[in-house]
Amino acid sequence: MPFSLAAWFMGDMGNIRNIVILTGAGISAESGIDTFRGGGGLWEQHKVEDVATPEAFARDPDLVLRFYDMRREAIQTKEPNPAHEALAQLDSGWKGELLIVTQNVDDLHERAGAKRVLHMHGTHLNAWCTACDVRTPWRDTLVERPPCPECGERALRPDVVWFGEMPYEMERIYGALREADLFVSIGTSGAVYPAAGFVREARAMGVRTLELNLEPSQGTAWFDDARHGQASKLVPQWVDEVLSS
Ligand code: APR
Repeated sequence: MPFSLAAWFMGDMGNIRNIVILTGAGISAESGIDTFRGGGGLWEQHKVEDVATPEAFARDPDLVLRFYDMRREAIQTKEPNPAHEALAQLDSGWKGELLIVTQNVDDLHERAGAKRVLHMHGTHLNAWCTACDVRTPWRDTLVERPPCPECGERALRPDVVWFGEMPYEMERIYGALREADLFVSIGTSGAVYPAAGFVREARAMGVRTLELNLEPSQGTAWFDDARHGQASKLVPQWVDEVLSS
């Protein structure tokens, strides 16, 4: 049965007040940023997983820093698309609680105007000093080992969460899920935990769940409802429904 937010309001679901939205690479795909698992998922013949680990950084720091320098440079040339813009509109218009938890390390949600955004996998636009633990806004390359503006050590790395590292702000995310009435997952393959497990956590707590993705994700069976197609079409349509209900 197609998902209808309006029907919930009239049915026995009660009012929806608190919304948690999870976004992944698929929401930025139409802005021209490659997803991780599409198109072979290779970068210069390396599997993305092989350059996104602390072990890879220890083994070949130049390779890893070059990979992230390239992606940092690329995202600065991209623009938000109608899906980011629709979520920003929801953020400013929704009176209840709302949290956009993004796995993306680009800043397209913020550039579209969204405020209630949490970057659980970090951000390309910070450098993190492993000597003094300070994070600094960063737009340039790191491969030349520039000194940390805070302590002067040449120990900067991208402020992104690699495989095997703990995503940021998990307690805040689970707290928001506990309070949520609706969980929506947009543009994510459901391949990477812990984010891939949010739908099950949400369901276990009685939260309604909706997937908006190009194709059924690996976790699609866990959602109450799913719509498949391009984020630039599905998200604005869904936001219109929510804001007019
Ligand atoms: N509209 C909607 N969905 C799309 C679109 C689009 N235009 N294009 C692609 N998708 C979907 C794909 O079908 C896929 O299911 O987006 C999903 C992207 O999946 P991944 O590439 O696996 O990205 P993501 O789920 O964000 O990856 C999770 O893995 O590599 C790590 O840390 C990295 O945050 C990343 C995490």
